[in-house]
Amino acid sequence: MTKVIRTISNDILVENICFIPTMGSLHNGHLSLVDLGKKTNLKTLVSIFLNRRQFNDIKDFENYPNQLDSDVQKLYDRGVDYIFVPEEDYIYPSSGIETVSPNEIGRVLEGYSRPGHFEGVLTVVKRLFDLIQPSYSVFGKKDAQQLFLIKNMIREFNLNIQIIEGDIVRDKNGLALSSRNNHLSSTAKLKASCIFDSLLKTAESISSNKDYEEAIKEGSKNFVKNEIVLDYLELVDTENFKSPSKYSKKLKLLIAAYVENIRLIDNVDIEL
Ligand code: PAF
Repeated sequence: MTKVIRTISNDILVENICFIPTMGSLHNGHLSLVDLGKKTNLKTLVSIFLNRRQFNDIKDFENYPNQLDSDVQKLYDRGVDYIFVPEEDYIYPSSGIETVSPNEIGRVLEGYSRPGHFEGVLTVVKRLFDLIQPSYSVFGKKDAQQLFLIKNMIREFNLNIQIIEGDIVRDKNGLALSSRNNHLSSTAKLKASCIFDSLLKTAESISSNKDYEEAIKEGSKNFVKNEIVLDYLELVDTENFKSPSKYSKKLKLLIAAYVENIRLIDNVDIEL
């Protein structure tokens, strides 16, 4: 029996919880994280909280789609145990909430383009972890830098939480599912599918000739003809999110780009 809750009571704290945080506007990517959570056979708790603090652009916050009724319905259909829909002042009471700042990895890529974003993410995730005290928590690999920083935070605060990582879910043209896709016209969605194509081609050329800079320069050229404005296309070592060294074996190619002024991110893994 699914329960919608506004606060975390003591009877929830005595359970073993698998926690799936979301900001709502749920799509099949989120639902795949819920499915991973259900596989743990623990009680599943999905939060829906649009966290103002992680939006560096207020317009982005205001335009974020709000579909609470259909979100709740989707989670009922999935059979989650708890749908946690807190009020803002429950998450952020006037005092006592610790702000969590990311390490230097929080200031590159997404962190560079969206100042304050990761501080907002880590602060709310730590607050939610403190409230819910889950044994497991599920995060998607699409937000690769977020996932890296959350794992780092878990180590730093010595939290006893296991992270489950969910694969990126894509539409039939390869576009990674995102709540922001709701803002794209169908033409823009088609144009945006070249993001994944280019990632795959660039990844292929990185693993075959290993001239990273040249491959990225070539890969970047694909976007102009599709009217896509590239923010970054960068390669990192998956282990430390820094530029790869000659010893790196697992790499991540990450992209952020604007299609019709909507910011999209994506990434692929490369094994050398
Ligand atoms: O990935 C998201 O949707 C958000 O950053 C999260 C983890 C729910 C925190 O607000």
